[in-house]
Amino acid sequence: MRRLRGNATLRAMVRETQVDAGDLIAPLFVQNGSNIHEPISSLPGQFRFSPDTALAEAKVLLELGVPAVLLFGIPDSKDATGTSAYDPDGPVPQTIRLLKSTFPELCVIADVCACEYTDHGHCGILHGETVDNDATLEVLSNASLCYAQAGADIIAPSDMMDGRVAAIRNALDNEKYFSTVIMSYAAKYAGAFYGPFRDAAGSAPSFGDRRSYQMDIANGREAMREMELDIEEGADILMVKPALFCLDILQQAKQRFELPLCAYHVSSEYSMIKAAAAQGWIDEKGLVDDALTSIKRAGADLIITYYAKEWAQWKKESHR
Ligand code: PBG
Repeated sequence: MRRLRGNATLRAMVRETQVDAGDLIAPLFVQNGSNIHEPISSLPGQFRFSPDTALAEAKVLLELGVPAVLLFGIPDSKDATGTSAYDPDGPVPQTIRLLKSTFPELCVIADVCACEYTDHGHCGILHGETVDNDATLEVLSNASLCYAQAGADIIAPSDMMDGRVAAIRNALDNEKYFSTVIMSYAAKYAGAFYGPFRDAAGSAPSFGDRRSYQMDIANGREAMREMELDIEEGADILMVKPALFCLDILQQAKQRFELPLCAYHVSSEYSMIKAAAAQGWIDEKGLVDDALTSIKRAGADLIITYYAKEWAQWKKESHR
């Protein structure tokens, strides 16, 4: 076996998996205002942006070959039913309009969920202490339509309500947004994976947890059912989240379904690497490269990662 490992040229010739900047999607947190570039302490190297600074960030990403951004909003106000999620003057629609008018070639993806917009931090509308599935579909449809109207290329529902893909597809088609793509967070697991994100977005639930809507990390077969349903309902791209904890799920999904597959290398996966790197315990560049390559090898076509910009920068430097 060692013959083909003998030198770098041979290794490159027989390499099965290649990560490219073009596979990456950069998450961006946006709020209203201008000139905001506020560091997020739980995600070192990530920032809260206003539309203008998000535009500057998108320019850098495009120059590095990263084709897409995923927007998360930090609204001015929250209420019980998350109405600010579909305010056309909210941070997400404003940023979409600015990004698309300046860089039409940039793929702008809007995350759709209620948790950043509800005062209780749950991903939907409450009925007592439980999240009401069907009442939530309306908020998700309204928000999806609002982002499509602003010019989003892709709508990415991350709430894990049943039937949301069908509801969103229907809402979009009714208003003639036939070509707006739906990338569903089809298999999204509950767990301790999203802590740094919730700090960044201020979206931690004020009571309880998300286990009644996000999946149990112990279940793999159930993920296949989630994906089958999302395909039936009209999803165009399937997502698995978190990425490194779910390489088995990615591999099964790749074998089973023909849709493009996306993996979300989530906030805790990023922050753990950052923390260890800050201690000098690991080789950050090497580890990130290993992580992204493994996610691709398992079956992901696209990877959402907070490392998108840095990885693309490292890649560019190494080619010089
Ligand atoms: C919104 C949402 C979350 C993430 C993406 N969309 C948080 C959550 O489900 O609590 C997490 C992303 C990350 O951890 O990087 N529902």
